[in-house]
Order: sequence, then structure tokens, then C-alpha cells
Amino acid sequence: MKKEIELRQVFKTYGNLVAVQDVSFAVSEGIVFGLLGPNGAGKTTLVNILTTLLHPTSGQAFVGGHDVVREAAGVRSLIGVVPQENNLDRYLTARENLILHAKMHRMPPSSYQRRIDELLDLMGLSARQKDFPNKFSTGMQRRLVVARALVHDPRILFLDEPTTGLDPQAKRMIWDYFLSLKGKRTIFLTTHNMEEADFLCDQITILDHGSPIVSGTSSQLKEMAASAWFYEIEVAGRTGEYLQAFQRLPFIESASLQDGVIQVCIKKEGKLGSLVEQIDLRDLRKISSRQPSLEDVFLKLTGRRLRV
Ligand SMILES: Nc1ncnc2c1ncn2[C@@H]1O[C@H](COP(=O)(O)OP(=O)(O)OP(=O)(O)O)[C@@H](O)[C@H]1O
Ligand SMILES: [Mg+2]
Repeated sequence: MKKEIELRQVFKTYGNLVAVQDVSFAVSEGIVFGLLGPNGAGKTTLVNILTTLLHPTSGQAFVGGHDVVREAAGVRSLIGVVPQENNLDRYLTARENLILHAKMHRMPPSSYQRRIDELLDLMGLSARQKDFPNKFSTGMQRRLVVARALVHDPRILFLDEPTTGLDPQAKRMIWDYFLSLKGKRTIFLTTHNMEEADFLCDQITILDHGSPIVSGTSSQLKEMAASAWFYEIEVAGRTGEYLQAFQRLPFIESASLQDGVIQVCIKKEGKLGSLVEQIDLRDLRKISSRQPSLEDVFLKLTGRRLRV
């Protein structure tokens, strides 16, 4: 399979801070690749390097076969970018923002006018196309930024947390659109959203402190966490006390509180009985087991939660 994106021993430092450390991996043509990692992991820095906005301190990167430093114009002609921050031109209307982008990519009006109509319609923005972006909600601005990245139907898409701030319906619509591009376009996506990574990505790399710590398909990564067992425990009261008691047990890998429910990860399955013995049964409301998630994989590998 042809490599559309390739990084070779890429480093990026900002003064003393090493933001990206010895990153090497490749993304095959036609797949959705997901880069996951907590705040400050170096995701945006990598996207900026691949989209030619930043030079790596050392190492090499290639997009569509072009070197991102020496052949930056070649890279830019192939890509569409949804940056982390909405960077719309506030002196242009929504439609004019899209037209400017089409012109920058030398599209003739005969092809861009129709494409823009389609994208505005897809993003539910047709009725607002004559408004200026600063009159838009954050979610509407985000949808316009996604539309802009798609205007010239780029071969490779870079999406830096594309659906942050979108309502579930808009998120789902955009996910479905990205799914429809599978096999035809290559997508490089960063996200904090596990559901998004699970739903869209063929290959996932988890980045932490500037370095990749693990790569694989969503199910391969979850398999890694499957050596532990996960339970959700709801008690009627004294939740904090129970949490602390669980945390002290030697066979507990981790125990934390989420929305009032205790999340427990047990090293060996056989110990569930010993855990339940800790609970006064009059306090026990519910106990259920669940499948490991990508969040669990991250927790297992780093001892920290990915969500912030
Ligand atoms: N222009 C800059 N100057 C100095 N340090 C920077 C600069 N940009 C990023 N950094 C630092 O580099 C590290 C990586 O930042 P980056 O924005 O790439 O992370 P990220 O994974 O995208 O995080 P987030 O999930 O919050 O978007 C952070 O420690 C950040 O403070
Ligand atoms: Mg970022």
C-alpha cells in the first residue's frame, strides 16, 4: 500500500521544551489515521509540521511523496486542513470564505460554485451563507471550517480535533461524510474523543509527551487492555469511602469516580468476590462489567486518564 504520509525521526523543540520526540510512522493511502493524546502531547505540533506551517527541528516528513520542508508548495497543493482553532476571515461572508479558498486552489467558478452549494447544504449553513462568521455560533464556525477544507476535494485531509464543540447531530453527519471518503482520500485526524477514534480510525497511534507509545487498530489496542477486567459499581452512599477502600486493595489496578459511579479495574478476574466483600450489600445499587475502551488502554499504559 502506498504511503501518503511518512515521518522519519521527527523532533521539534521550542526553546528547552521538546514538543515532539523521535516520531517515525507512516500512513497508508485511503485510510483514516487517528492521533490520540492528552493536552500538550504534541498533536498540533505534528499537524503543523505535516501541513508545512512549522519546520521540524530535525528529521524528515513527507506528504503525498513531497518533503514538507523542501517541497512545501507541492504538499500544500494536495492537502485540506481543519486547524484546531477556527481561523475564518471575519471580513468575508461564509460563502466568500469558501470562494476565497477555491480561488487560492485555482478552481474555476464553474466547478467551485456548485461544490460550495453542496458543502453549505451538507453543513446546514445554506441559509446563513451571506452572514459573517463572527455572527455564527462556535459549532457553525467549525462546520464552515470543515466545509472550507473540503472545497477543493483534497487528496489528503488533516483534521485537528475537527468535531470539538459540535452537537451530536452535526458530529454524526461529519463522521459519516469522512467515512464516505474511506478508500478514496487519506485522513489524518487528531482527537480526544474515543468514540470518534473508534468509529472512524483504521489505525490509531497514541502520543504522550511528544512520543508515540502504542499503535494499532482500535480492537488491537483494546485487546492490550483486556488483561484486566473492568467493573462499574454504584453505591447508595459513602461513595468516597468505598473508593478509598477499593484503592487500597492489592489486586486493584485502578479505581476512580466518574459521574458518581466507581470505575474499577481488577488485575485478575477471580477477585471480583473479594471486591464485593468490601461492600455492605445494603449500600450496593448496581454492579456491571464493561468492555475495555481506548481510554482504558491509555490509562493502563501511562497511569493517567486521557480525558481532561
Ligand atoms: N509556539 C509554541 N511555543 C512554545 N511552546 C509551544 C508552542 N506550541 C506548542 N508548544 C508546547 O508544545 C507542547 C505540545 O503542544 P501541542 O499544541 O502540539 O499539543 P497538543 O497535543 O495539540 O495539545 P492539545 O490537545 O491541547 O491541543 C506543549 O507543551 C505546548 O505548550
Ligand atoms: Mg492540539
